[in-house]
Amino acid sequence: MPELHALIAGASRGLGLGLAREFLAREWHVIATVRGENPPPDMEELSAAYPRQLMVEPLDVVVDDEIVELRERLSDRRLDLLFINAGIAHGADERLAATSAREFAHVMLTNAYGPMRTIEALNDLVRPDGVIAVMSSGLGSIANNRTGTWEVYRASKAALNMLMRNFAARDTSRTLLVIAPGWVRTDMGGPNATLDVDTSTRGIADVITARRGTPGLAFLNYKGETVPW
Ligand SMILES: NC(=O)c1ccc[n+]([C@@H]2O[C@H](COP(=O)([O-])OP(=O)(O)OC[C@H]3O[C@@H](n4cnc5c(N)ncnc54)[C@H](OP(=O)(O)O)[C@@H]3O)[C@@H](O)[C@H]2O)c1
Repeated sequence: MPELHALIAGASRGLGLGLAREFLAREWHVIATVRGENPPPDMEELSAAYPRQLMVEPLDVVVDDEIVELRERLSDRRLDLLFINAGIAHGADERLAATSAREFAHVMLTNAYGPMRTIEALNDLVRPDGVIAVMSSGLGSIANNRTGTWEVYRASKAALNMLMRNFAARDTSRTLLVIAPGWVRTDMGGPNATLDVDTSTRGIADVITARRGTPGLAFLNYKGETVPW
């Protein structure tokens, strides 16, 4: 079987770290990006366990120079999966009325602009039968929003989804995925979330494996079910 290569952006903890771990266990080669020069202890441990399969690279998705430098360092690489997981949230009680313009911009830049800028810069490394995916959220579904809450976060993930649809209008040949991971016990999801990281990331890896080679864009949850836009 040929070697498979993934890049997971925002892999320091939570779902990103879980995805890196899952693909490594499936014998993929993984480029895991973290913010700053010093990988966190969990990533060091993973590097020690998979010295030949894992490469750790610095990337802050809202710093253009870092995206450009990463692209240069990876110029001779080819990817079967480019997965942008990075994201931030301020919780269910977040209200637009209490959010400064600066903070609104920060969430939008981190959750929508940065992920798509990274995809714009790196997508030419992805093979024709490869997958380009973003970590969105069920909360990014406009059709399903009947309860409000998470006001700015929802808007940022809806913006991310729209930007993926723009991208899909230009890239009609590769597999493009907008993923909703479920409610997961991470720093962001909190201790009361219904899923553990392994269940979500195993499901997401299965979805990616099943969709690889199928052209076009889909908004899917970790079980492979379609999420309404
Ligand atoms: N947990 C859930 O229930 C849930 C549900 C739906 C969607 N999601 C989405 O899943 C993704 C991962 O969430 P999580 O639950 O694993 O959250 P998390 O534990 O808070 O982890 C967030 C990850 O994003 C990285 N990140 C944040 N800003 C970044 C930036 N500017 N550049 C690069 N990396 C950045 C963080 O890196 P640092 O360690 O450097 O901060 C960290 O690795 C997010 O996109 C989130 O919106 C999560």
